[in-house]
Amino acid sequence: MLYSREKIEEVLSATDLVGLVRQYVDLKRAGSSYKGLCPFHAEKTPSFCVTPDKGLYHCFGCGAGGNAINFMRDINKMSFPEAIEALAKRAGVALPKPQFSNYGGEKRVGVSKTDLYAAIKNATFFFQDRLWGPEGREALAYLQSRGLDLDLVRSQGLGLAVNDWRALHNFLKAKGHSDKVLVDAGLIKARGANEKDGYYDVFRNRLMIPIRDLEGREVAFAGRVLPGQEQEDVPKYINSPGTTIYTKGSLLYGFHQARSYLRAAGLVFLVEGYFDYLALVQAKIPNVVAAMGTALTQDQINLLRGQVKEVYLLFDGDKAGQKAASRALPALLNVELPGKVIVLPNDEDPDAFIRARGVPAFYAVAETAMDILDYYVQGLIPEDKPTITSEARAIREAKEMLRLVPDAALSQLLRRKLADKLQLEPNVLSEAPAPERRPVLSAPTKATVPSPRIDPTAKSILAQVVTYPNLARSLPALGPYWPNDPSREVYLALNQQYLNEGSIQPEKIFLPDNEELTGLIAKAAFAAPTQTAEESTLELRQLAENMRSKALKAQHQSISLAMEEAEKAGDTETLKRLAEEKARTPHPLLAKMKPQ
Ligand code: UTP
Ligand code: MN
Repeated sequence: MLYSREKIEEVLSATDLVGLVRQYVDLKRAGSSYKGLCPFHAEKTPSFCVTPDKGLYHCFGCGAGGNAINFMRDINKMSFPEAIEALAKRAGVALPKPQFSNYGGEKRVGVSKTDLYAAIKNATFFFQDRLWGPEGREALAYLQSRGLDLDLVRSQGLGLAVNDWRALHNFLKAKGHSDKVLVDAGLIKARGANEKDGYYDVFRNRLMIPIRDLEGREVAFAGRVLPGQEQEDVPKYINSPGTTIYTKGSLLYGFHQARSYLRAAGLVFLVEGYFDYLALVQAKIPNVVAAMGTALTQDQINLLRGQVKEVYLLFDGDKAGQKAASRALPALLNVELPGKVIVLPNDEDPDAFIRARGVPAFYAVAETAMDILDYYVQGLIPEDKPTITSEARAIREAKEMLRLVPDAALSQLLRRKLADKLQLEPNVLSEAPAPERRPVLSAPTKATVPSPRIDPTAKSILAQVVTYPNLARSLPALGPYWPNDPSREVYLALNQQYLNEGSIQPEKIFLPDNEELTGLIAKAAFAAPTQTAEESTLELRQLAENMRSKALKAQHQSISLAMEEAEKAGDTETLKRLAEEKARTPHPLLAKMKPQ
């Protein structure tokens, strides 16, 4: 993809869909949405709808639908990237030059960036005041109990959002910030579709961590649940949305403060959590930054290029570590930065480790850091005795990782290295012949690219979850069974959004270039709910069960096939291993999904 998903989502949220469509279609208001004559097929009565708050359009007549990018592309017969560029220009969002442009090199023009900075700055003050006042006594004690000095708490600008729906809004209103600015800054949200319904504070009852940009300005917040209030269905962190002054995935927490130490040290410790960052700084290890979650981006790694000669990564635990490594490895290779992985004993996080064992022990473990390529390969096939399914999975994952290395020579070198370490023929890791690419400037028509078939159960599940967003909590469990077709990309984006924000907003995710899927999501987003909460849950459970049993059946079949071959070849060892694997794989008809 030419532009990062984050960037595309930024363009989408900066675009006013109704305004855009109005340039082509005469829209009339109808309740909370707009109606008009569909520009994509001939009709006499309007069946074309746009919902501004969903950022999606849908035609009940011809089934066309999607977000602003789909609209721009289809109405102007543009390519996908062209449509993104046109929208970015229109909304005043600067796009990076394709490939590794330096963040902050260009200044974006935005109408109210200064207003946004001011609002976030004042919010930071407000939260800080609460933390240092009588309401903050407990939270402050908690920070101290985690070994943090008050000086550090102050210099990081940590704060407290009290348990009140209007406290911040009232304060900022009195300071003269408009509702619109506060909504755009991600500090308040509208209660309903109508402005008159009022607003509520996004951050309540949380420990507030301001996130600063490269120049040290506060641009966003992470709000951590307060001690003693952690609950399974309460997200640990609530994060600011992307705004015109904050692009998600473009910053590293603490980078501004670490900057001057990075060159001197020549290396950086890259940790995952805010509290890991704080623990290292507290321990007088200032060359540290935090990734703010696990999906490390190329933009983040690019920040480190030129500052350090080596990146030391600290991941939480094995599984998350493997995932993070699969992102970090290509990102580091792309900018020729050597990476090492520090594996802390017993899956301890850096915060716990440093506090329990001290700085010398930390440096001692750091000395034993593994090269990130070795770490990645080791994690690809973790078992001593790999099975064909685990090997197949490893190959699939390695191919996915290789896709993130655009340089052909580098990619080939890496492929050879991986193949060697996995004891495979290098061509096993080569891409299947790429699907024919649509020349960028030709006018795409509906028939140029044959769409890959999409699993019907996957389609139904997406539709169900978009229509009934409360069902989103079932998404994470579906990962292992979700079929590998274009719907998977939508699934992954929704699931990620749910994990990050605790809810889904399909209009904000980047939809793949697939008409069937964009149409389906738009249609579901417009569908009026007809099922009760129980009915919708039940239906989803049934669909999830179908998906799971289908996946398990396929797995059983492939094992059986492999067993037949092993039997023909007289390979009793493999046969035995496969039989064991088959026994471990739950039978599709017997296994029931754990009730949610
Ligand atoms: P951790 O769970 O390790 O959090 O997640 P932490 O910051 O170390 O907090 P403590 O030690 O439990 O108090 C690592 C990072 O992942 C992101 C945050 O950036 C967090 O610092 N994260 C985690 C989220 O964005 N949302 C979440 O719900 C959880
Ligand atoms: Mn932690």
